[in-house]
Amino acid sequence: MTNQNAGIIGMGHAYPEGILTNADLEKIVETSDEWITTRTGIKQRRKARADEYTSQFGSLAAKQAVERAGIDVTDIELVVCATTTPDQIMPSTGALIQAQIGAVNAAGMDVFAACSGFLYGLTMVESMIRTGQIKYALVIGAEVLTKYVDYTDRGTCVIFGDGAGAAVLGPVAEGKGILATKIRSDGRYAEQLYSPGGGTKLGTTHKTIDNGDHFFKMKGNELFKIAVRSMADISAEMVVKAGYTVDDIDMVVPHQANQRITDAVASRLGVPEEKVYSNIAQMGNTSSASIPIALDECIQSGKIKEGSLVLLTAFGGGVTWGGTVIRF
Ligand code: UT7
Repeated sequence: MTNQNAGIIGMGHAYPEGILTNADLEKIVETSDEWITTRTGIKQRRKARADEYTSQFGSLAAKQAVERAGIDVTDIELVVCATTTPDQIMPSTGALIQAQIGAVNAAGMDVFAACSGFLYGLTMVESMIRTGQIKYALVIGAEVLTKYVDYTDRGTCVIFGDGAGAAVLGPVAEGKGILATKIRSDGRYAEQLYSPGGGTKLGTTHKTIDNGDHFFKMKGNELFKIAVRSMADISAEMVVKAGYTVDDIDMVVPHQANQRITDAVASRLGVPEEKVYSNIAQMGNTSSASIPIALDECIQSGKIKEGSLVLLTAFGGGVTWGGTVIRF
């Protein structure tokens, strides 16, 4: 068995042109720019048009990532799409993206792990590259969450936005790439953030539609506490596993759930504000897409460069969570 280090060798991201501001939401539900800003840090989010869907944004991000990786798309052997908002229940959005980008030698599949999906994909693919099963893979986080949001529920509709980010993973030199990664879940908290309708349990009936069972339901303040604890604990564990201390970390790129969650995780870890990336004001919470979009923004702006030690951490419905330490 080989022991090949795997790392991110190219990234890309994409999102809809449409913007939904806090002022727009004030006209739809009983809320205010002041409440949304102070409780979440969000000022606007991207919103897909009715004729736009998840695989389109995933494909745009994936094409950019492949181009920046400098490989041929036919070298990709696996396309993993992390999404909670697939184009349709079958086939997988990963298979649809595979066709759209021309990754003819790949297998396409989806990972359903809500906001932690990108880290689930990275963790799975890292071990496949490390053991020599595959050489190059795409891990994509892509969401059109605004189509699953109930715009009469002010507890959820102010948070979620749309977008996609993608990473090409491939072999990298020793000491580089993914140094430590771990994923977790606890299904006992399933009903803290879920969409009850549309599956085999309730099906899709006039009753489920009338009840709004196809929309996301969230117990936000209960999730808040578990999110902070889970992300901080797994982050600390992964930093130690990678052989470093928190002070060695150059940049933390957390899932963009809520600015207050990000601040609380950073304070629990003892990481200063300037080392924690946030784009939640512009993007809102894009679930599995939030880490790859934020990570690509950091790379493009030079916040993360060759040699940077980066900590990623996520938390989402399931509940699921994860932590990953990468040397770029
Ligand atoms: O993506 C990963 C998974 N998701 C998360 O991790 C989400 C975590 N949770 C959160 O981000 C926050 O809990 C929310 C932003 C969702 C809610 O903020 P909160 O500070 O936890 O508020 P709350 O739910 O405890 O509600 C406080 C008050 C309530 O009013 P009363 O009962 O005190 O009168 C709510 O009805 O704020 C009210 N409220 C709002 N008011 C204006 C809830 N949503 C809104 C709103 N505008 N949009």
